[in-house]
Amino acid sequence: MSGVRSNSLKTTNAGVRDLGLAKEGLGLIDWAAREMPVLLLIRDRFREQRPLSGLRVSACLHVTSETANLMITLKAGGADVVLCASNPLSTNDAVAAALSAEHGIPTFAIKGEDNETYYSHIASALENRPNFTMDDGADLVTMLHRERTELLGEVTGGTEETTTGVVRLRSMAKQGVLKYPIVAVNEALTKHMFDNRYGTGQSTLDGIIRATNVLLAGKVFVVAGYGWCGRGLASRARGMGSQVVVTEVDPLRALEAVMDGFQVMPMAEAARVGDIFVTVTGDVNVLDRAHFEAMKDGVILANSGHFNSEINLAAMDDLASSVQAVRGMVQEYRLEDGRRLHVIGEGRLVNLAAAEGHPAAVMDMSFANQALAAEWMVANSGRLEPQVYDVPKDLDAEVARLKLAAMDVAIDSLTPEQEHYINSWEEGT
Ligand code: ADE
Repeated sequence: MSGVRSNSLKTTNAGVRDLGLAKEGLGLIDWAAREMPVLLLIRDRFREQRPLSGLRVSACLHVTSETANLMITLKAGGADVVLCASNPLSTNDAVAAALSAEHGIPTFAIKGEDNETYYSHIASALENRPNFTMDDGADLVTMLHRERTELLGEVTGGTEETTTGVVRLRSMAKQGVLKYPIVAVNEALTKHMFDNRYGTGQSTLDGIIRATNVLLAGKVFVVAGYGWCGRGLASRARGMGSQVVVTEVDPLRALEAVMDGFQVMPMAEAARVGDIFVTVTGDVNVLDRAHFEAMKDGVILANSGHFNSEINLAAMDDLASSVQAVRGMVQEYRLEDGRRLHVIGEGRLVNLAAAEGHPAAVMDMSFANQALAAEWMVANSGRLEPQVYDVPKDLDAEVARLKLAAMDVAIDSLTPEQEHYINSWEEGT
């Protein structure tokens, strides 16, 4: 960790590593935009219609070139936007600099920031006195509800990007502590079926390969968790020639993994045979002390779930006789008997810590949902309860339609006869 601190955090430029990186960041933002046609269409409409006029947005997202394009779109729609990181290791410093210095979007994010700085950056984003929040993992919403309750009265709505955040928000809503309505962008089909599956699938392998340059072909690749992210990861790892093992706690998902052709077994068994382990469960200590004790020499461990709680690093520290960095993103834990276990990116989201996150083409759909959900919430402000809402189906369908059009893919439509048939029950064999 660099431990870089930002002291005066309320000014536009205080929360980034180096404003001198802004030009490089502009190039990265522009490069991503080329693969984000749906978001760009929405941006053009927002620029004309200004549906977010006067909206003060505090966003807590991975600070990537794709996120930058979302922030620029919100601003085009009339919003006053500030951004902070949703993970200490996921920031692209050049993008953060470009947003602050070139786009007038105050950004508080430094790759490698320590936990204290991470939370101080969220606090800085809340200084915008938001009436709208955009979160990825619910850390900003949590701070707002715990430490800045005096701001809650002005907040009319928010969105949440990821599975883990939605789980936390649903728990808040169930306990009656959630104070304003939030749209679970993750639940849109055009989000999780593509971002979680193809985005996580590809970018997780990208992170592992960039960090280690390991050959995946012929390796036993253990995927913990067979949700949308796990499904994508398992299929991509198989595509690279790995023998894929899936571990699960949910019988339905486990059955699906079996029928998809993967070996399914408990982690206690997988620990003995795996070469590469990736956790994507959203839970804690999925790789634990007993598993480390059973692992082979030279294994690679990574996490692609939202929080760095899936690999029990404290237990690894305890077991290890030495810990050293052996490559930029790889820590080697050497056990008493000489076995070496390698952890990528401190157990944080490997695709963002060691690579660049999901490709822009898939974030296009996720962030189109974000922009449309924000517009929908503003239009429905005052009519919504402090609950977790799904993205309205018509918005989801609109994102799919626009994406297909941008990809130049045409599809059929029902004939009047088919339309009638599908809506009636009278006709049988
Ligand atoms: N989450 C995963 N990949 C991402 C990306 N490229 N930008 C923002 N959030 C992400």
